[in-house]
Amino acid sequence: MADNYRDWDPEKYLQFEIHRKVAAIKLVKELKRLVAARWKPDCVIDLGCGPGTSTKVLESEFPNARIFGIDSSPSMIEAAKTRERAKEAPTTTYMHGNIETYVPEDGTDLIFSTEALQYLHADAQIETLQRLIQNLNPGGVLVFEHADNRAYDASAAYHEMILTIYKEAAWSQYFKQMRETERPHWAKIVAEEQYKDALNPSCSTVRTSRSVAQVILNNHQELVEWMKGAELRFILKTITDPDHRKAYLQRYMQRLEEVYPRDANGKIVLKWSMLLCVCVKKAEGIEEEGIDEEELDEVDMIVLPPDC
Ligand SMILES: C[S@@+](CC[C@H](N)C(=O)[O-])C[C@H]1O[C@@H](n2cnc3c(N)ncnc32)[C@H](O)[C@@H]1O
Repeated sequence: MADNYRDWDPEKYLQFEIHRKVAAIKLVKELKRLVAARWKPDCVIDLGCGPGTSTKVLESEFPNARIFGIDSSPSMIEAAKTRERAKEAPTTTYMHGNIETYVPEDGTDLIFSTEALQYLHADAQIETLQRLIQNLNPGGVLVFEHADNRAYDASAAYHEMILTIYKEAAWSQYFKQMRETERPHWAKIVAEEQYKDALNPSCSTVRTSRSVAQVILNNHQELVEWMKGAELRFILKTITDPDHRKAYLQRYMQRLEEVYPRDANGKIVLKWSMLLCVCVKKAEGIEEEGIDEEELDEVDMIVLPPDC
């Protein structure tokens, strides 16, 4: 498999940037809810920053911080750098790097990651998070969010559909050659308890919560374009024969229409569940001030208008 197999398509991703920002906005909100307002990080890392979508949310929130965006996709990081250079006063540093091996800058106060950890194998997620915590400043904060697709019938049905289609005879030959970790939707969701068990020894606080995001799309073709900004891209890259690829897309569309029927307004509602986690690294002498013990919301719906 080519090295750039996991290279993403920033143009496709940015087609829906306003919707994709939801994860970062939600995670910042959760961070602010749990950590004292006077806490201001000087050095912030955005892991799996993509074309800078989540990083821009951090820039608005922490305008005085040194911010670094790290991503393993050459095209995504190039897009982030290009957008940064286009700014009147560039501030953020973007670098190519793999979350699994990345060592944070000295003095890092905040490690932030949205919609990226789910692309790591479950074991690698735990090991990576434990290592990242070690590299944080005492009292520093690690926050992450990832999609938990088991939580919705439609998402679960979508995943089931992907796993079923890719085993069909017409194209299964392409996927058989792939390593297990590269197969579509191989990503394992780690149970919340596992995160807590792994991170509690080095943290004074580990809090998980859930939220729901929803995007309303005009038709199934738009949904296909959304998916091409993520996993579908890798599936289509793997199917090298153009006729097979065309047939796959037809089959995909047919199943998509079954899994996501139009609503009463003729729109397609794409919903997904987010798992959010806020961890504060232990630090002697630093009070655990600011943890808000209010009941955590089970569901907090963020609905963005479809056409903005
Ligand atoms: C869905 S995008 C999320 C981008 C951004 N964080 C956001 O919220 O819009 C996932 C990004 O994670 C990156 N990614 C996936 N696995 C990675 C890894 N092991 N190391 C670094 N980046 C990774 C991908 O290249 C992609 O840019």
